[in-house]
Amino acid sequence: MSKLKVGVIFGSRSCEHEVSVISAVQMMQHADGDKYDIIPVYISQEGAWYTGEPLKSMTAYVPAFDPGKPGIQRVQPDVTARSGALIAYDRGRLYRGGSRRIAARMDVAIPVMHGLHGEDGTLQGLLELMNIPYASSGVSSSAISMDKIFMKQVFRSFGFPVLKDLPVLRSAWRHDAVALIKQVESTLPYPVFVKPANLGSSIGVSRATDFRSLSDALELAFSYDRRVLVEEAVSDPVEVNCSVLGYDDSVRASVVEMPITDGQLLDFHEKYLRSGGAKGMASLRRVVPAPIGAELTQRIQTLSKEVFRALDCKGVVRIDWMIDPETDGLTITEINAIPGSLAFYLWAQSDPPLPYRPLIDCLVEIALKAQADKDENDFAYRSDILKNAHLSGSKGAKGVKG
Ligand SMILES: Nc1ncnc2c1ncn2[C@@H]1O[C@H](COP(=O)(O)OP(=O)(O)O)[C@@H](O)[C@H]1O
Ligand SMILES: [Mg+2]
Repeated sequence: MSKLKVGVIFGSRSCEHEVSVISAVQMMQHADGDKYDIIPVYISQEGAWYTGEPLKSMTAYVPAFDPGKPGIQRVQPDVTARSGALIAYDRGRLYRGGSRRIAARMDVAIPVMHGLHGEDGTLQGLLELMNIPYASSGVSSSAISMDKIFMKQVFRSFGFPVLKDLPVLRSAWRHDAVALIKQVESTLPYPVFVKPANLGSSIGVSRATDFRSLSDALELAFSYDRRVLVEEAVSDPVEVNCSVLGYDDSVRASVVEMPITDGQLLDFHEKYLRSGGAKGMASLRRVVPAPIGAELTQRIQTLSKEVFRALDCKGVVRIDWMIDPETDGLTITEINAIPGSLAFYLWAQSDPPLPYRPLIDCLVEIALKAQADKDENDFAYRSDILKNAHLSGSKGAKGVKG
């Protein structure tokens, strides 16, 4: 029997491009080669798509990605439903002589993207159009999880505990910066956290304690996004994360981890660069399981599963929480629709442990199950609408719509 062709899609036009490369290479090296043909699909920082064996190794990206390296081919996804083909470019052109050359085909896709243009629903939209099974949350849940403003509004509407916040716009900042700062000051007490709405890995996130630092924080955040979230700060929070894996009614939570922050905000350096960068999120210093007692651990696991279900997530996500050491109050910080290193290190230490290889099997099964569910839906509704349509004017067209 031929092996299932699993396309691992990563990179893309994102501030977290490099983190995605690490997560994807790690994943491809753990996948079961007896079961799957792993097809690397690398989207460059400029947005060009590539495939080829060399893309499975870090040497393809360090010191710099070279598209001319033997074995690497530029491709374009075929958007025809159910095709899953990656069509090769030939000397800079898509087809030569009118014939299409298919470089590879994907039966299933696993997006290993972080940030915009991949984790945010855009790639998921493309995969929906292509009508191939994929192992990440769908368009709406990915988009909501990426956007800190919408995400918090949705959490609030479901009754999950969140910190007070104020969403602000770059146009208001440009129009009257002082008025905007005054508006923040009259809504939230210092200190506050300032975050671009659509980023991750702590990029553009800062803590502000007064007028001056708030101004700097807003200036920085608005350089990344036109929408920014200002949020009440927790002092010296205990941060804990829990991964959730599954789909529909079959959902499980991982062990809970406590990243070590030394009282600092968990920034990009802490997350990825401390051990030289090669291990991605797996390199972060952490305590596993988080020493927070069985009751709180269980509460976080239960709530994490509820969040996953509320957002109708799919695949593997990581939900981050903060505990206020003064009040013991628990609030949700964010959901990562595609977590760094796919949170494999949490599953490996869960009870019972789920090593990376079977975790990848679970993701493939989830993708196939979700596709089977989708295939049950009727996407064609037959009627006589075309036969009766009058195209002679707006009146006719309107008449058809009723
Ligand atoms: N309201 C807050 N109070 C205290 N610390 C915060 C708050 N919001 C964020 N942080 C710190 O900043 C880090 C990054 O914030 P987060 O919202 O998770 O953004 P990102 O998507 O970039 O990871 C958190 O892990 C935490 O260390
Ligand atoms: Mg975070």
